[in-house]
Amino acid sequence: MRRFLLIAALLCTALAVRAQDAPTGATPSTAPAPGTVASSGAPTVANPPPGPTQPVAFSHKKHAGDGKMACDNCHEPARTGATLAMPQAQKCMLCHAAIATDKPDIKRLADAAQNNQILQWTRVYRVPSFVTFSHKTHTGAGAQCEDCHGPVAEREVISREKDLSMGGCISCHTQKSAPTGCDTCHQLNSVRLQVPGIPSESVLLARLTRPSPASKDMSIHRFFAELPLPQTTSTP
Ligand code: HEC
Ligand code: HEC
Ligand code: HEC
Ligand code: HEC
Ligand code: HEC
Repeated sequence: MRRFLLIAALLCTALAVRAQDAPTGATPSTAPAPGTVASSGAPTVANPPPGPTQPVAFSHKKHAGDGKMACDNCHEPARTGATLAMPQAQKCMLCHAAIATDKPDIKRLADAAQNNQILQWTRVYRVPSFVTFSHKTHTGAGAQCEDCHGPVAEREVISREKDLSMGGCISCHTQKSAPTGCDTCHQLNSVRLQVPGIPSESVLLARLTRPSPASKDMSIHRFFAELPLPQTTSTP
């Protein structure tokens, strides 16, 4: 399903881009190559799934929008800036000890703060463990929060409206001339990638976006284990 959404989103954006370009009469391919989608950051997902229900109905619009709070008030850099912190109730109570104290959500916050309970925010953006990602690298290169998360300060609920799947990452990397080799984002046996006879990256990528059950469940390790024998394993 996620794969379908990704492909659909890439396709829609690519078609929109084509429509803006001079009509050259070129036949649009069914699956646009990653990197052909023009945007200032990660591509926008056409129909993002609704955001999750959070333990407390927190609104970025109220706080970061109307209240003009800076993002790093609540999301200060953690792990030397690779990740950002998710706020806990003690932080919220700096204001909510006095603001809207009669509201059920705020009473829940007060309880959590008093009992040192961890608020289990349901995560919206998440990359799998085999992907290397660091906020610091990106914000250091001038990327804005909105490039990858959309207009957060206008949102009551955060949903995954930006495509940060592999296609979305590579799309922006291509635009900004950032590296796109597989080992940029995956720690792998890079020697393996140097072996002659391995299909080109575009062939690998085409295989990845093919929605077959086999590729869907394929772990990255199995994927790379298959690489030396592309000819005998490529037809499903
Ligand atoms: C280049 C894209 C990109 C940019 C720019 C970016 N983010 Fe992220 N953000 C991500 C990705 C990818 C994840 C998931 C990271 C993971 O799972 O480790 C994430 C996760 C998060 C999280 C959850 C905590 C975490 O670190 O995993 C928060 C909060 C967040 N981003 C806020 C921000 C804020 C605030 C900014 C601007 C200062 C920002 N992001 C800029 C891509 C980006
Ligand atoms: C800088 C002060 C400040 C901080 C810090 C703060 N808030 Fe708020 N919050 C406000 C203000 C102001 C309102 C608007 C109150 C109103 O509309 O009556 C609000 C409203 C809310 C509401 C809506 C209450 C209701 O039902 O009307 C919730 C829920 C909420 N905040 C949760 C949080 C959470 C969770 C945190 C910590 C992650 C937090 N807030 C941190 C100032 C703050
Ligand atoms: C008052 C505290 C507060 C401020 C200020 C704040 N956030 Fe958040 N942020 C939260 C809380 C609480 C959550 C978890 C609940 C949710 O997803 O709405 C969150 C979640 C997020 C997420 C989803 C992370 C994930 O992977 O689940 C992103 C992205 C994010 N914030 C970006 C921003 C950006 C960008 C700004 C500045 C424009 C900002 N936040 C300002 C409290 C804050
Ligand atoms: C908004 C555009 C944008 C998006 C979206 C984006 N990146 Fe990047 N990324 C960059 C730029 C620009 C650099 C180069 C930074 C530099 O060289 O200083 C970079 C660098 C990196 C690097 C370090 C490369 C190196 O060797 O220095 C990694 C790893 C990386 N990105 C992973 C990811 C992953 C994983 C995603 C998707 C979850 C992603 N990026 C999404 C723009 C983006
Ligand atoms: C700019 C970052 C980036 C680059 C470059 C990159 N990947 Fe990925 N890759 C990702 C991200 C992010 C995911 C996780 C996607 C998700 O969670 O939907 C991923 C997932 C995967 C998976 C898991 C299966 C799947 O389809 O989700 C495989 C296999 C994979 N990548 C192989 C490759 C190969 C082969 C290359 C080189 C052609 C490559 N990657 C280059 C970011 C990247």
